[in-house]
Order: sequence, then structure tokens, then C-alpha cells
Amino acid sequence: MPGVAVAGDDAATAVAHVYRVFARHEARGRSAAYASLAESVAADAVLTRFVASLPRAKRQPQLLFAAARYLLGAPPGIRSLRELVSRSEAELTRVMLTRRTQTNEPARCAVLLPALAQLPQPLALVEAGSSAGLTMLFDRYSYDYGGYRLAGSDPDAPVLRCEPRGPVPLPPRIPEIAWRAGLDLNPLDVTSDEDVRWLSCLVWPGEGDRAQRLAAAVASARRDPPAVYRGDMLTDLPALATRAPADATLVVYHSSVLW
Ligand SMILES: C[S@@+](CC[C@H](N)C(=O)[O-])C[C@H]1O[C@@H](n2cnc3c(N)ncnc32)[C@H](O)[C@@H]1O
Repeated sequence: MPGVAVAGDDAATAVAHVYRVFARHEARGRSAAYASLAESVAADAVLTRFVASLPRAKRQPQLLFAAARYLLGAPPGIRSLRELVSRSEAELTRVMLTRRTQTNEPARCAVLLPALAQLPQPLALVEAGSSAGLTMLFDRYSYDYGGYRLAGSDPDAPVLRCEPRGPVPLPPRIPEIAWRAGLDLNPLDVTSDEDVRWLSCLVWPGEGDRAQRLAAAVASARRDPPAVYRGDMLTDLPALATRAPADATLVVYHSSVLW
């Protein structure tokens, strides 16, 4: 009935708000393309209604944009996104319901490495929320901390650059890792082309060298894939941790999982 608000309208209004907040506080300064796209989605009644029809946990801009990119083969713009929703709504819904935002960023290892290097070695690593396991391969990558360099075991793996600020205890060498295991609700498989394509779709356009770094890290991981087990960190961490060798320092860590 004209002029009468219904529950779907409320949900679409809430979606528009979420996309505006994403544009202004998350994408701005990181990805001009996604900041502009999220503003356009927020202003589009058809798109906000489509997103509002999905379960609450599946309405994030990152998921919509990655799913659209996965189907379109290129980052979406507002026109291609509108066409996709009008032409292939069921297919887009299927990808959004089956996939998750599981961005795996190897560069986070550069931030964690100085802390790991302070611990007695060798180390046994358990990563909670490890996605494809790229943030477990500390000893494979090389590092450049503002000119202070450390060489990893795989010369073809990416060099992770990091600008330390303040008294960061830069390690004399990369710590020895005796054992590692990841745990994820939905492990991604670095040997699966579809999982790797999904990972690449999660990278936002305009984010510098992230795509190249991801490709190099995946190539390295494929030469010796890390073990990532399916499970929930809320219940399954203790059982996984018991598999670690007793003579190594057990380190349970996460990055970009708990908010
Ligand atoms: C944003 S990704 C981060 C991946 C990686 N740690 C990194 O920093 O690149 C978050 C990951 O946590 C996983 N995750 C979320 N909640 C979880 C839970 N309760 N148990 C296990 N994994 C979980 C997701 O499936 C996803 O792969």
C-alpha cells in the first residue's frame, strides 16, 4: 500500500545505512572504486531490497562485491551490478550464501613476526581462523622492515614490507617453526583454482600490490600446502593444540578474526 512502511522497507533502509558507513569509514582512502560503489548501492532501491532479502550475516558490502566480481570476472561497477542482479539474481544469491569473507593477507605476518621471535624456539603454531593458511607461512616469506631485511626459505615467496614505528624489537633472524596447523570454519584450499579465484576476488580494487602479493604467496603455499582443519575456534582449538610437538613452544594466535 502506498505510504505504508513494511518490514522489507525497514531492512532495505538499514542496508543503505550499512553501505554508506562502509563507503565513508572503511572503503574511503583504501578503494575509491568500492567507496563510490557502496554509495551508489545505498541510493539504489532495487539493490538495497535485494541485499535485504539475504540473511543478516550475508549482507556485507565486501561479500556482495566479491561475489559480483567472481561472477563478472572483473570488479563490479554500479551498472554491471544492477545488470547482474536483474539477470542472475539466483546465481548471485547462491555465491553469497555459499561463500564467506575470508580475505587472507600474508603481509600480516610482518607485524606478528617480531612478537613470535621473542618466544623460545622452535615454535608450534596454531592459527585460529586461518582461511587458506597464508598467515602461517612466516618462515617462507622474506621481510623488509624499512631497509632491515630478513630472507625467508622460499626465494620466490613475496617480500613483506613494513615500516616499524617506535622501539619494535626487530628479530635477528626468522624464528624456527617446527610445526603448524590452522583451524577454520571453512578452510580454503590453496590447491583449488576456485578457492584461489575467490581469494583474489576478495581483494579490493585500488589496494596497491595486494593482488600480486596474494598470487606470490599462493604460488609458494602450493609448493608445500599448509594444513588447515575444519572446525570452530570456540570449541575445537584445545583438541588441535594437543597435536603440537611437546618440545616446541605452542603459540595460538589469530589475525583479523576477532573484532
Ligand atoms: C578475515 S579472515 C582472516 C584470515 C587470516 N587470519 C588473515 O589474517 O589473513 C577470517 C577467517 O576466520 C574464520 N573464522 C571466523 N570465525 C571462526 C570461528 N569461530 N572458528 C574458526 N574460524 C573462524 C573465517 O572463516 C575466515 O576464514
